[in-house]
Order: sequence, then C-alpha cells, then structure tokens
Amino acid sequence: MSCVCVLCTSVLLAVLMLCGAVPESQVPVSYGERGSNLGLQVFRRVVQEKPQENVVLSPHGVASILGMLLPGAHGNTKRQLIAGLRYKKKGPYKILRKLHKTLTSKSNTDLVTIANALFPQEGFDMHDDFLEASRDNFMADSHSLDYRNPQQAADFINEWVSNRTKGHIQNLVQPDILDPTLTRLVAVNSIYFKGLWKSRFNAQNTKMRTFTGGDGKSYKVPMMSQLSIFNIGMANTPDGVKYRVIELPYHGNSMSMFIALPSDESTPLAAIMPHLSTETVHGWGSVMHQGKIRLLLPKFTAEAEVDLEGPLSAMGIRDLFIEGKADFRHLSSEPVHVSKALQKAKIEVNEDGTKAAVATTAIVLARSSPPWVIVDRPFVFLIRHNPTGTILFSGQINKP
Ligand SMILES: *[C@@H]1O[C@H](CO)[C@@H](O)[C@H](O)[C@H]1NC(C)=O
Repeated sequence: MSCVCVLCTSVLLAVLMLCGAVPESQVPVSYGERGSNLGLQVFRRVVQEKPQENVVLSPHGVASILGMLLPGAHGNTKRQLIAGLRYKKKGPYKILRKLHKTLTSKSNTDLVTIANALFPQEGFDMHDDFLEASRDNFMADSHSLDYRNPQQAADFINEWVSNRTKGHIQNLVQPDILDPTLTRLVAVNSIYFKGLWKSRFNAQNTKMRTFTGGDGKSYKVPMMSQLSIFNIGMANTPDGVKYRVIELPYHGNSMSMFIALPSDESTPLAAIMPHLSTETVHGWGSVMHQGKIRLLLPKFTAEAEVDLEGPLSAMGIRDLFIEGKADFRHLSSEPVHVSKALQKAKIEVNEDGTKAAVATTAIVLARSSPPWVIVDRPFVFLIRHNPTGTILFSGQINKP
C-alpha cells in the first residue's frame, strides 16, 4: 500500500556585515504562536505582492533567525525585534529554549529536524555570552569560514544546508551575496519536515482532474482522493467572506496540515489572506467538527525564495538592516548590520510507497454517499505543531 508523504524544508540565513511597529492586536498565548504570528504577517505581505504565485514560507523559521540574533541586539534594534515578536522584555530565552526542545523532542524527530548554525569569519570576535545564548537556546553549531574566498565559503554553507535538509535545499547562498572584506557572520536556520498522513490516500484513487488556477485557466493535475473522517468547518472573515477549513492530521497526532479555501468559487484567495493569524487558526477549533467526506486534494510541489528585508522593514523591524543604525553591541564590539535575510522553502505533497510507517487508516464506508470536498482552486495551507501552536510552514498554492 502506498502512502502520501509531505516533505517540507526551509532555510533562512542572515548575513551580517561590518560597515566601514507592528500593529497591536490580541496577544497570542504561547511563544510558539507569538513568533509564528510575526512569520504569518511576513507571509501575508509576501503573498500580497505575489497574488498569482505559489509561495511557501516558514513562519517559525522567521522567528527563529530573529530570536538567534536577539541576544546580540541592543537599544532600538532590540526594541523593534521584541515588539515585532511580541516577546516580553525580560528573558524570552528560557521559553524559547523550551519551545525548541519541544519541537525537536523525540516524539517529533520523525517529523521535524531543525538545525541552526552560525558561520563567523575566521578571527571575528563574538562575545561569549552571545555564542552561549545561541548554543543554549537554539543548539546552534558554529563553524568559522574565510569569506575572503566567497565561493569556498558559500560551498561550505550550501553543503551544510543540503546535509541538514536531506538534499532538498541546494545552493541557498550565491557567492555574490558574500562580501570578501565585509562579511562577518552568516546565521542559518533550517527546518526539515516529513510527515505521513494519519489517514493515507490510496495512490490508485489518484486521477487527473481539473484545477482552476489563480490565473483563471484550467489545468489537469493529479488529484488524490479518499473517503474518511476529517475535521471540517466553515469560517468567516470579519468582512463576511466564507471559507472552508479542513484539518489533515499527520501520523503521531502532534502536527496537522490545515487547508483553507474560499467557499465561493469566484472569491479570490486574497480575500481571506488578511484574516490569517495564529488567533484565526485557534478559532477554527470551534467551527470545525468531525465529518465523513470524500476529500479530493491535489498532489503538489512548491518552492519559493523570499527576501525578508522588505516585509520585516515594513513591519517596523528595520534598524537591524541599516548600517550605522543597527546596534549589535552584545554580539561583537565591531559595528555590524544584517545585509541579507533570505528564506528558501520547499514543500512536496506526494505519494511514497517505500517510506510508509505503521499508519492507522480510518476509512469508513458510508451507507449514503458522503459530501465531496474538492480542493480544485487556489488554497492556503498551514502546518502546525498543535501542542505549541507553532506554525512551521505556510503556503499559497495557485497552481499545483
Ligand atoms: C555533509 O555530510 C557529509 C557526509 O556525511 C560530510 O562528510 C560533510 O562533512 C558534511 N558537510 C557539512 C558542511 O556539514
């Protein structure tokens, strides 16, 4: 029997070089949610600029790289980070360490691998407290490199990233973003996720069907199908736009993929995007109920690279990018700023018959024919670690 497996990877890097306000709303509860909420705001800004494209981003990855730099920051640079992440001023680190431990705990290791690293220029003097914080809180490796040879340094970082994402993210760093005389530190966060559906799709039921893309054109795509019990519901945006929500749990029960799509076929996906937050996802819990449906979901692969400087600056996390304004005095006594913050993420929802773990299949045959739920137009997906509310991945799929 074959199964469907989902692979997700995300890598984010911040390059620091030597240089010669987020709107208030309801404060989310957990630190996983606080960070993810910032990441979701970044996601919403990115899809606003790319309404027709497929976008994949890791909200937790965005929060992680900022969290790694936070102990080095001071003054306005620090204030903007804390405000954006909605962390408490005193001591978010203990909680972040616990979050990292929970996400990478044994019960999740089959699903998620999170790796963090710092690649300083050889001889770059970092404060011990900063190094300790990144080691303790984010279990970050540290490898010194020589950026005077940008190609060699990029090759090393890319190999590290490829290793940690099982080969799914290649060539993250182009040598031309590294400056032979100015680059002092490259910080990388990588997330690799591989989940097996709790209730699998049978490959024999996958058929080519029509999907109406974000561009209005019809495409034939492989559509998976299963009759099963899912959490489904109907939600509303504050403007009254109705949309459908479906939860697909992964094997192990701690992670789920949530899919949202407008119920009216003529409503663009953009109509529900501004509504997307960790609070909203929380709220879905109360509108969803278990129902027996025939679910048709496309197999899909999507990959995207996002430059975070624009979205973060627009949200008030600005000074860390500006030479002369960035204040990382707790990182090093040399004045540094972030010259590049890039995230590359990839998702594959496909069938894989060889890596099937023991899985429970809940196929219940219906007496009467159950309703069909067909995901045949642009949709949003979120992959959430349910106990902490952390959003590991978010995506917009316009064409599978
Ligand atoms: C990547 O993995 C290979 C094989 O395990 C290892 O030899 C190499 O040192 C690793 N590279 C990095 C940069 O971690």
